[in-house]
Amino acid sequence: MNNRIKRSPLFYVGDKYKLMKQIINLFPKEINNFYEPFVGGGTVFLNIEAKKYCLNDVDRNLINIHKFLTENSSNPNKFFKSVEKIISKYKLSRSYKEDIIPNSLKKEWEKTYFARFNKEGYGKLRDWVNKNKKNAPLILYILLIYGFNRMLRFNGGGQFNLPVGNVDFNKNVVNALSNYFNFVQDKNIVFSSKDFRSFISEKEYLKNDFIYLDPPYLITASEYNKFWDHKSESDLLYLIDKLNKKGIRFALSNVTHYNGSKNDLLIKFIRKYKIHKINSNYISYHNNSKKEITEVLVTNY
Ligand SMILES: C[S@@+](CC[C@H](N)C(=O)[O-])C[C@H]1O[C@@H](n2cnc3c(N)ncnc32)[C@H](O)[C@@H]1O
Repeated sequence: MNNRIKRSPLFYVGDKYKLMKQIINLFPKEINNFYEPFVGGGTVFLNIEAKKYCLNDVDRNLINIHKFLTENSSNPNKFFKSVEKIISKYKLSRSYKEDIIPNSLKKEWEKTYFARFNKEGYGKLRDWVNKNKKNAPLILYILLIYGFNRMLRFNGGGQFNLPVGNVDFNKNVVNALSNYFNFVQDKNIVFSSKDFRSFISEKEYLKNDFIYLDPPYLITASEYNKFWDHKSESDLLYLIDKLNKKGIRFALSNVTHYNGSKNDLLIKFIRKYKIHKINSNYISYHNNSKKEITEVLVTNY
């Protein structure tokens, strides 16, 4: 379906992959500096042409993975060799290369055999990370790829606590990595890991710059929504108004209605701007069920 749309190799929960075609059509055609204060997995910037990219997310581990992938983009062979080393040390499956899962396991656990096969090795790798307090981006990336819902999740004590997922290093991961490497190789990209308030306020914007904002949504549920509250939401809306007053083009993704609740603050705010409805097929992060949702892209151009 999305043939020409690239998906980030972080396969980030709530990424914009399925909505990219609709969103890109609403983006400006010419972009000087492109700003993303909530870059997440990066699927959006991977599909944008700009002179320079300033990409930010408060999640430091996530940004370290982006930096690591970007640094390795000119030598994918070296990157894949390091991946292979860890995968074989921890005896994880890697279906992009070979199928090592016994048929007996596939028969017994028809729908969950990847999770069954990788559980032990994944657990050992996770224990190693937690014991040695080593958040090396490569290892975190591998944990993410084999982890449940492909997330980065730590408990209050800083221990990585995501269980194994029913996935492995497959062709989709390799394709997404290759696309990422090809794209970032010759681009001018600056990553940062700040709170959106400092990131947005400190920039000196120029004509034809463009800022795309995809914050956590106040009325939906996700791991990264945990710390997002009314104060964050109103600070963000205030900063967007300020950008608008300076004549800077912006686009904001958000959700006005979700499963019986609505975001009144947002609904009032967006009346000042152009509201584009986005057809979204939101799947609940809790139980994979489909939800009633009104997703919008709000722009000032
Ligand atoms: C909806 S996700 C962005 C998804 C992204 N568009 C994609 O395609 O992957 C929102 C992101 O905001 C980040 N975030 C949450 N609070 C933040 C804050 N105060 N400042 C900056 N980023 C924040 C989260 O870590 C998360 O990655």
